[in-house]
Amino acid sequence: MLKRSFLQAERWESLGKPLIQDETDGLSRAKRPRTLPDTRIIQRSSEVPPVQKALIIDSFENEMTLREDVDVPLELDDYDILVKNSYVGLNHFDWKTKKYKFCIYSFPWINGRESSGVVVKLGKKVSTKDFPLNCKVFLASTSYRNIQTSTFQEYTVFDSRLVWKVPSTVPVLDVEERTKYSPGFDLSAFAGTGVSLVTAGCSLSYFLDFDNLTSLNGNKKCLVIWGGSTSIGHFLIQLAKYSNAFEKIIAVAGLQSTAHLKTLGADEVIDRFETEDNIIEKLLETCSNKVEYAIDLASKDSAKILMKVMQKSVQASEKKIVCVSGTPSDEDSYDGIAVETINIKKFHENIEFGKSFVRYTSELFGEKKLKLQRNIKLIDDKDSFDDRIKRGLKDLEEQKYKGTKIVVKI
Ligand SMILES: NC(=O)c1ccc[n+]([C@@H]2O[C@H](COP(=O)([O-])OP(=O)(O)OC[C@H]3O[C@@H](n4cnc5c(N)ncnc54)[C@H](OP(=O)(O)O)[C@@H]3O)[C@@H](O)[C@H]2O)c1
Repeated sequence: MLKRSFLQAERWESLGKPLIQDETDGLSRAKRPRTLPDTRIIQRSSEVPPVQKALIIDSFENEMTLREDVDVPLELDDYDILVKNSYVGLNHFDWKTKKYKFCIYSFPWINGRESSGVVVKLGKKVSTKDFPLNCKVFLASTSYRNIQTSTFQEYTVFDSRLVWKVPSTVPVLDVEERTKYSPGFDLSAFAGTGVSLVTAGCSLSYFLDFDNLTSLNGNKKCLVIWGGSTSIGHFLIQLAKYSNAFEKIIAVAGLQSTAHLKTLGADEVIDRFETEDNIIEKLLETCSNKVEYAIDLASKDSAKILMKVMQKSVQASEKKIVCVSGTPSDEDSYDGIAVETINIKKFHENIEFGKSFVRYTSELFGEKKLKLQRNIKLIDDKDSFDDRIKRGLKDLEEQKYKGTKIVVKI
């Protein structure tokens, strides 16, 4: 899988390089080296056009712009599918990479890491039984070096083995935290699911094996999740609960979310606005001086507080923290704590892990256990999709909608 993803990046970059040097244009079909007709594709919707609209980053400084002449990939690897995006979910990564100049490897570039839509083309080894044309799917594109897998464009290529089919019905929580069931045909509900779900899964994979969930039975530990109210926390708490692998699940979050987080599976919620000393004391008390496992979804600072808690956990037999939003620079000064920096590329680089995670979570959706995010801000007004995405990213950066996933119609 690693080889495949590397080759894909290379292939794109080799197509992209001459274009970056072309100052007049970026992705015009006419100027691109011609690709041979693709004989390997077995199924393709007749409606797939040769070019598409995409939101282009042409420098770190300039505003992103809409281009209408970006090639739709002609060539699919054996297990790939081409998805026509209906909605995209917005993630902090999408604005942070441009603002802080990372993970953008050449210009012109396309961001966007998750979407929902319909399948319009299949690679040679994808069966129509598994993915009939026009079937509804959602995805998390973790291979961020390959812009064909980006989602701020009309069509996205991704490995079918790592794509979820939209379930027929899915539980959501109403405002009073009662579970109700919504028909699964509304693709907007799923566009913002992939990245949070995969990040939650990759975080938990440092503590458990989704293929062998009984392995920790008899030796359960407390798990502290700092940032329980984040989109990642929403899925993390549920996955931790359903794994049945932890003695207790403690969320650190704003207390207004307490009822919601407990409905998802948290045993206790500790107020993130308390003083550091109080949070440390409450965590130690709640876990009987045994905070062994922690996942930080907020910042280096909160990760550091969790490490202090672990340091004081005199009863702990093992200490491990997964940092999702920054790793403290002085991590080495905390003896006996294994500090892991999350790697969500594991989802596609370790194909067996990715496949088993999609299979496991699809089962949870199928059993109507896994609940979708409660609050979705859908941006589907009459502006063009580039304006909608740019507005959404600004709202996300400015944290305009608390505890809400922003989804944009494409
Ligand atoms: N490394 C990776 O591969 C990766 C992948 C995905 C995301 N991330 C990062 O993970 C973080 C979470 O992403 P997300 O999209 O899930 O976030 P999100 O949904 O935007 O989270 C927003 C919520 O976080 C809570 N929050 C804010 N500051 C907090 C703090 N200091 N401590 C605890 N909770 C806090 C607030 O809820 P309350 O006020 O209700 O507590 C807020 O409503 C981001 O920093 C993102 O960049 C990293």
